[in-house]
Amino acid sequence: MLSRTTAPSAASAKALSRVALPSCSRIPQTNPKSTQPQSTRNFATVQDGAPKRTYGGLRDQDRIFQNLYGRFPPDLKSAKKMGDWHKTKEIILKGHDWIISEAKASGLRGRGGAGFPSGLKWSFMNFQGWEKDTKPRYLVVNADEGEPGTCKDREIMRKDPHKLVEGCLVVGRAMNATAAYIYIRGEFVYEAAVLQRAIDEAYAAGLIGKNACESGYDFDVYIHRGAGAYVCGEETSLIESLEGKPGKPRLKPPFPAAVGLFGCPSTVTNVETVAVAPTICRRGGSWFASFGRERNQGTKLFCISGHVNNPITVEEEMSIPLRELIEKHCGGVRGSWDNLLAVIPGGSSTPILPKKICDDQLMDFDALKDSQSGLGTAAVIVMDKSTDVVRAIARLSHFYRHESCGQCTPCREGSKWTEQIMSRFEKGIGREREIDMLQELTKQVEGHTICALGEAFAWPIQGLIRHFRPELEARMQKYAAANGGPTYAGGWSPTSRAEGKLIAPGQ
Ligand SMILES: Cc1cc2nc3c(=O)[nH]c(=O)nc-3n(C[C@H](O)[C@H](O)[C@H](O)COP(=O)(O)O)c2cc1C
Ligand code: SF4
Repeated sequence: MLSRTTAPSAASAKALSRVALPSCSRIPQTNPKSTQPQSTRNFATVQDGAPKRTYGGLRDQDRIFQNLYGRFPPDLKSAKKMGDWHKTKEIILKGHDWIISEAKASGLRGRGGAGFPSGLKWSFMNFQGWEKDTKPRYLVVNADEGEPGTCKDREIMRKDPHKLVEGCLVVGRAMNATAAYIYIRGEFVYEAAVLQRAIDEAYAAGLIGKNACESGYDFDVYIHRGAGAYVCGEETSLIESLEGKPGKPRLKPPFPAAVGLFGCPSTVTNVETVAVAPTICRRGGSWFASFGRERNQGTKLFCISGHVNNPITVEEEMSIPLRELIEKHCGGVRGSWDNLLAVIPGGSSTPILPKKICDDQLMDFDALKDSQSGLGTAAVIVMDKSTDVVRAIARLSHFYRHESCGQCTPCREGSKWTEQIMSRFEKGIGREREIDMLQELTKQVEGHTICALGEAFAWPIQGLIRHFRPELEARMQKYAAANGGPTYAGGWSPTSRAEGKLIAPGQ
């Protein structure tokens, strides 16, 4: 689950320079014209003198998702006991500008993978003259959750569905939407049933529907069950699917806020992003912003799977160190931290990181970008030393090839080629120079497709080559030693021509 938020921002570049520069700037320098030693510290940094802040250790009272482990039933009565639907009417009556300003102050960034600032995104719906536009306006909640490794939105819908329903109302009010459509993946049968029950309860209690919460605002919430395709999680593909068409992404612009669902202004946003909105409004944007590093604020659901002792979905402070996340909440890596091989930090489309980077990796958007990976959906896939890392990435290539909708040539053909090449590389069949060719192939795909599925299959391979190239080469050498020499590029064996397999196109 990712999309194209690209270059590191000025703020993160600044943050980087803050880290890099002070040590040399502290070296006293002598002005040749003066006898006085002069300091060249022209730029005091935020960190100077301030105690070093650590992240993590979220306290129970600061957890938004109080029922993540299902201690209470997912009904309205229990939800109210946990604080849901408290003062929702007042929030609604404060109006769209207030809700958006709280979202902006909170620093909330989309939890669907792209990390786009949510308050800003919601504000695009209130474009100049929106009041005069008679068309309906939609909030579309993305509950497709198809990215391998990701299992957080389903937990919200199973255990804390009222957070999402209330979130729909609050975020819907922020963008003056008429209704919310929750697009849930078809396989989530149980989650859809629990969510529908919560919606029915909210309707019966007058919390949504006509005159929602007695605020004078009318707002409907519908569930739409998808048919189960990864690409339908992409926002425009989701809209197409919701309209009853095959789920194939649209070219942008026009963006959904201008022409979205059924041609009306719409915004697609992730379940977690929506579900945290009411608590942010109740406790204040500044409360949420007090967690995590600058530009990476808030609490976040991390889903940790793979070779850990206790796989888990847990809410933690943003910017928590990866090692702490795994050791504190998952009982550590199977066989100790030293047994770690690598981690995919943000769902299968984010580049893999080897142990030496994981040792002191912070888990937030900017820190992971600095490590040439991404936070994505915060789905942490842990691999210990028993993992065949080439096979793992080859399996992902198979997945992405299967999920390509086939509209654009670089993705349709590229995903097939990469799958074929990776399945050869897994067995060591190939030449070392083909590793560069594969790398080049992925670079040609990146940025040249309609949707970000192109990047999704390119990045894991780039990560593998960046960090595990010796492993690929070793396999090729082993194959060559066992088979009397390397294969030809393309995987052809020296006997292929004689066997009639190696023929030129057109022959
Ligand atoms: C191939 C593909 C699949 C995606 N799948 C999901 C998904 O399952 N859930 C999701 O929330 N976002 C998914 N996204 C990201 C969405 O396009 C969109 O950015 C996101 O829903 C926006 O929500 P946010 O602003 O709350 O992050 C996917 C993107 C791509 C390119
Ligand atoms: S990048 Fe792939 S999945 Fe996305 S529109 Fe193009 S072919 Fe379809």
